[in-house]
Amino acid sequence: MKTVQLGRTGEQVSQLALGCMIMGTVTPEDEAVTILDRYVEAGGNFLDTADCYCWWENRGSYGGESEELIGRWLARSGRRENVFLATKGTAVPRDLDKVWDADGRPDWEAAYRNFVGAGAKTLRDAIDGSLRRLGTDHVDLYYVHVDDRSTPLEETLEALAGIVQAGKARYIGWSNVRTWRLERIRQLCAQHGWPAPVALQQQHSYLRRRAGLRHASIVDDEQLDYLETHDDLTLVAYSPILKGIYDDPGKREGHWAMDPYQGPDAEARLAAVAEVAAEVGVTPNALVLAWLMHQTSPEIVALIGPRTLQQYEAALPALDVKLTEQQLARLDAAGA
Ligand SMILES: NC(=O)c1ccc[n+]([C@@H]2O[C@H](COP(=O)([O-])OP(=O)(O)OC[C@H]3O[C@@H](n4cnc5c(N)ncnc54)[C@H](OP(=O)(O)O)[C@@H]3O)[C@@H](O)[C@H]2O)c1
Repeated sequence: MKTVQLGRTGEQVSQLALGCMIMGTVTPEDEAVTILDRYVEAGGNFLDTADCYCWWENRGSYGGESEELIGRWLARSGRRENVFLATKGTAVPRDLDKVWDADGRPDWEAAYRNFVGAGAKTLRDAIDGSLRRLGTDHVDLYYVHVDDRSTPLEETLEALAGIVQAGKARYIGWSNVRTWRLERIRQLCAQHGWPAPVALQQQHSYLRRRAGLRHASIVDDEQLDYLETHDDLTLVAYSPILKGIYDDPGKREGHWAMDPYQGPDAEARLAAVAEVAAEVGVTPNALVLAWLMHQTSPEIVALIGPRTLQQYEAALPALDVKLTEQQLARLDAAGA
């Protein structure tokens, strides 16, 4: 499996990363373990989880099921040294009674208001909890899961520096963050000698966000431009196939994952994907993964989240796609 350097760390991570968000809740353990085994056997090394995965799948859960499953898998398989293990803190709700609506569905706005955030003690406790569930003494990458504007960045960064110093995380990353905040974070790190983020985890795919959208989590032009000129920060693209909407017009009809993209630009790009996918002989979902992995400035890690073994296997043909300059140019030019 092709690897890319994470930032300028010298660490090589698989360009197709495996997201474990729904493992242990939606995906049953035996199937999740088969996916993990197959991924590592195929040469993959970059695993992604978080301490909050997946409280919203089970009322009464605090999250942590995904980390626990990975912990059991690592203990059984002895594969800790074969994987570059990333987890995240800050986005566990403080009070789980306040994050469900009257119909028993997760209330995301309430959840956002309720996140434990990135205070120093919260982070120190959170990393210890993650390490306990994962059954390891360190993670390779520790992200601030959701940028927290109510805690002074100095406090968060100093705590993260302490976590790195203690050997509990080798590198840090940030997720769901605006570019100006990222710049401020990096300036503070440079000023104080704290470890700066080497990975930026944002939602990113082939479709482009619709004009006028306010969103801290989906990469925009400004952020792409920033990344092009700061290659010490690697873009880890989550939801790269937008929950699998590229293959199936029926699935994207009314799907919430389409909402940030809806419009003529998306229609034009969906048509281009379908056309090139047919030429190349892969599914549109796989073509989008291949397109992401063909990007060079910035280089992109595509972080998939298959629910089933079959979905995992459906992503693999993307690794063998070689897009021509002409096909890349057509895909880039498509739009309204
Ligand atoms: N930092 C963050 O805030 C954040 C947010 C989200 C995710 N993440 C990370 O990123 C990882 C990937 O994100 P994601 O799960 O949103 O990515 P994704 O790969 O775009 O979506 C995964 C979903 O797409 C559907 N799917 C997958 N393969 C398919 C196929 N071949 N055909 C049709 N549908 C398919 C499945 O949903 P169905 O149930 O519809 O089949 C699956 O659950 C997560 O595991 C997590 O580690 C991070």
